[in-house]
Amino acid sequence: EHGLAAPHYPWPHGGFLSSYDHASIRRGHQVYQEVCAACHSMSLVAYRDLIGVAYTEEEVKAMAAEVEVEDGPNDEGEMYTRPGKPSDHFPSPYPNEQAARFANGGAYPPDLSLITKARHNGQNYVFALLTGYRDPPAGVSVREGLHYNPYFPGGAIAMPKMLMDGGVEYEDGVPATETQMAKDVVTFLSWAAEPEMEERKLMGFKVIFVLTLALIQAGYYKRWKWAPVK
Ligand code: HEM
Repeated sequence: EHGLAAPHYPWPHGGFLSSYDHASIRRGHQVYQEVCAACHSMSLVAYRDLIGVAYTEEEVKAMAAEVEVEDGPNDEGEMYTRPGKPSDHFPSPYPNEQAARFANGGAYPPDLSLITKARHNGQNYVFALLTGYRDPPAGVSVREGLHYNPYFPGGAIAMPKMLMDGGVEYEDGVPATETQMAKDVVTFLSWAAEPEMEERKLMGFKVIFVLTLALIQAGYYKRWKWAPVK
């Protein structure tokens, strides 16, 4: 069964030449780290990917160093832990899928690296899902451990409502309302799934620009060539 169709929200980066809102990516990363990362991995993203996108190199080094990373084997053949480096990927909250399911009543919190691409109408879907929790309509009951959410296929999801007003405290002073946090985390997830979007749009613009010049010059050349005939 499909979930309720998510509305189309006017994403600031949705225009054909628009770039991401980088302050929003930064806030969204904070939401991911403080809320979502407790259950969801984003194993395709490395700390250094954030440099120049949402954080400075110094900030990223400090952020990575706060994580304990298992590495090895060393020369003695042993595994060991060390502070994280910018080249490390985001850590996973669980050692494997079984552990993840065990901690979540049998449900699996999917990796979020590509989630906005993996789901139909991904950005709008994730926003609608995060903000879509409500009481079930009269006559609808939801199994113990599940939560009513009309945007989730089937209408009952194992993930509880995660975003509540004031759930995080933004350093830039933007009020952390439920919808603000949902917007920011989706912007962050969209960037993670398509970090090259800005370059792609710029390249598209250049291609169209050059082709337009070529078309104008071809038109001019044709008229010039045919002028004596007409
Ligand atoms: C599922 C996002 C926080 C547990 C999902 C899905 C998304 C998502 C997009 C996928 C729905 C689908 O498959 O179509 C987020 C975001 C979070 C967050 C953006 C932070 C704001 C959490 C937390 C937990 C959690 C903290 C654990 C306490 C789960 C579980 C599922 C899930 C168990 C699978 C649900 C099911 O199959 O019924 N989440 N999540 N999530 N999430 Fe989260």
